[in-house]
Amino acid sequence: MNVKEVRQEAKKRFNGICRVCRECNGVVCAGEFPGIGGVGSGISFINNYKALAALRIKMRVIHAASDPETSMTLLGQKLSMPILGAVVAGAKMNFRDIISEEGLATAFITGAQQAGTLAMTGDGPDPLLYTAGLRVIQDNGGQGIPITKPRDQARIIANFHQAEDACCVAVGIDVDAAGILPMRAAGQPVGPKTVAHLKELVQSTRLPLILKGIMCVEDALAAREAGVAAIVVSNHGGRVLDHTPGTAEVLPQIAQVVRGNLVVLADGGVRSGVDVLKMLALGAHAVLVGRPLAVGAIGAGADGVRLILEQMRNELKVAMIYTGCASVCEIGEGVLWR
Ligand SMILES: Cc1cc2nc3c(=O)[nH]c(=O)nc-3n(C[C@H](O)[C@H](O)[C@H](O)COP(=O)(O)O)c2cc1C
Repeated sequence: MNVKEVRQEAKKRFNGICRVCRECNGVVCAGEFPGIGGVGSGISFINNYKALAALRIKMRVIHAASDPETSMTLLGQKLSMPILGAVVAGAKMNFRDIISEEGLATAFITGAQQAGTLAMTGDGPDPLLYTAGLRVIQDNGGQGIPITKPRDQARIIANFHQAEDACCVAVGIDVDAAGILPMRAAGQPVGPKTVAHLKELVQSTRLPLILKGIMCVEDALAAREAGVAAIVVSNHGGRVLDHTPGTAEVLPQIAQVVRGNLVVLADGGVRSGVDVLKMLALGAHAVLVGRPLAVGAIGAGADGVRLILEQMRNELKVAMIYTGCASVCEIGEGVLWR
């Protein structure tokens, strides 16, 4: 199968849940939440896409970077590309049972592994979501990152210990899920965390802790103070709060203050290798990709995820040739017209 066939198959299987649009920009699916869209007006998702689309690349062809290296090391792991699978969870709620939670997690974790990189799994109103994802990571030798909702401290620490037993690469919390009220209604309360809470969580595990859902310098500084290993500049794909800026709009100021102290990841609207180059130019060490890999997973399971990741890696390599970057760490703001 090629990427075109994967997308065609996904469109059939999604049966309208995701239209697999040529431009995955949040317009057609605005407000379709649960589902694949952004929450409310859908503007937070649309802003992610628009912010990246607005950036222009400075093309350079007089240089010696003829065979750029896309591999890199992240949190001690050697990856084939600076691209990871984001958390796409809640199969029953979002995808109306066209795939099981375990099937979705398997496609992401094994597809990413086959492409030489990593993916994340999630958590939700039903705690079985967390265990389903964790089981898949465990079956793949720990090659994945389980993301826990910002639950009470004891529950998070218990999840972290399960992740240690499963030999996971790292653990994470999607702190931007603090206001997901259906979690409370389901008797699984979530809420905001203080720096003291985060310090306790950092100290509770020997694994690197990633905070997903940082959208301002204040929160990034708090994450640094707490001692986390990494942050993800993310608005949850526009699925938690309406009217936030695109992540590419806030990434530069965040990266500027914390990049020297912790790993900066970013997601939201990354659709191609050129978008990866743009996020790295704005200060991210690596990116996460959500919806395009969901299309891959529904279209062809792990093979679909692998194919989409490999295509993005190839596109990144071409973009690196055209900007004179021999390695990922050479990608800086100089590749953009600003
Ligand atoms: C259907 C769906 C489910 C998601 N579930 C979760 C989740 O459980 N936890 C989480 O942290 N993020 C979740 N996300 C957000 C993604 O991890 C990621 O931040 C976002 O999708 C990135 O934007 P992109 O889809 O435009 O690439 C979900 C996204 C989608 C589309």
